[in-house]
Amino acid sequence: MGAGTRGLAVGGGAVVLWWWWRLHPTSRPFAQRLWIDVPHPFVTRRRLRQVLVPVPGERLLEVGVGSGRYALPVVRWLGERGLLAVLDQQEEMLALTMRRALDRGITNVAPACGDAAALPYPDDAFDAVYLVSTLGQVPDMTAALRELSRVVHPGGRVVVGELCYDPHGVFFGTLRRCAAAADLRFEGRAGGWAGYFARFTSLEAGDAPQA
Ligand SMILES: C[S@@+](CC[C@H](N)C(=O)[O-])C[C@H]1O[C@@H](n2cnc3c(N)ncnc32)[C@H](O)[C@@H]1O
Repeated sequence: MGAGTRGLAVGGGAVVLWWWWRLHPTSRPFAQRLWIDVPHPFVTRRRLRQVLVPVPGERLLEVGVGSGRYALPVVRWLGERGLLAVLDQQEEMLALTMRRALDRGITNVAPACGDAAALPYPDDAFDAVYLVSTLGQVPDMTAALRELSRVVHPGGRVVVGELCYDPHGVFFGTLRRCAAAADLRFEGRAGGWAGYFARFTSLEAGDAPQA
């Protein structure tokens, strides 16, 4: 087999693998957490802050917290009177985030193990919720977005960050369709096709559903 043929076979295999991952949403295992810690362009913390607009003293929720890349700065933006609830379906990820928080003297983080599509929180519990590089790992994205909408108070912010070259990345058009089906109103986004943060708000009583 020549070098050209080998290159084509490897490239083709990589594309097939990428598509297979896209079609089979599943959590990235804890053993691959080094990939989660690699700096991600387009979905930077600075950009998250611009889109999420956290206010000191607020109660926020991060779904799919992973190793705490976003949670640790977010909880600082909330100040000592604020609270950040963090949820993940992998206990090891929560333990890592909590260890990193405690190492930094941060105590206002509340962990919970659970599924994004069945959140263990009452209605209207948060001022805002966000998730980054997580929605595409959830088999029913619309169900997860409905849950995010349920746990924020009416008019609360729901922010979704996605890296689209990741096999589980969610393209913006798909997100818009799922969000509309979950009765979330689109407010704006920062970033382009390769990676972005999009902000929605949950509908308030009397709001017309999204087209
Ligand atoms: C790719 S990591 C992203 C972590 C973090 N948000 C970041 O960007 O650094 C996705 C995280 O979402 C979690 N996750 C995946 N599916 C989930 C689900 N259905 N419910 C809760 N957490 C989930 C995974 O365990 C993992 O920690």
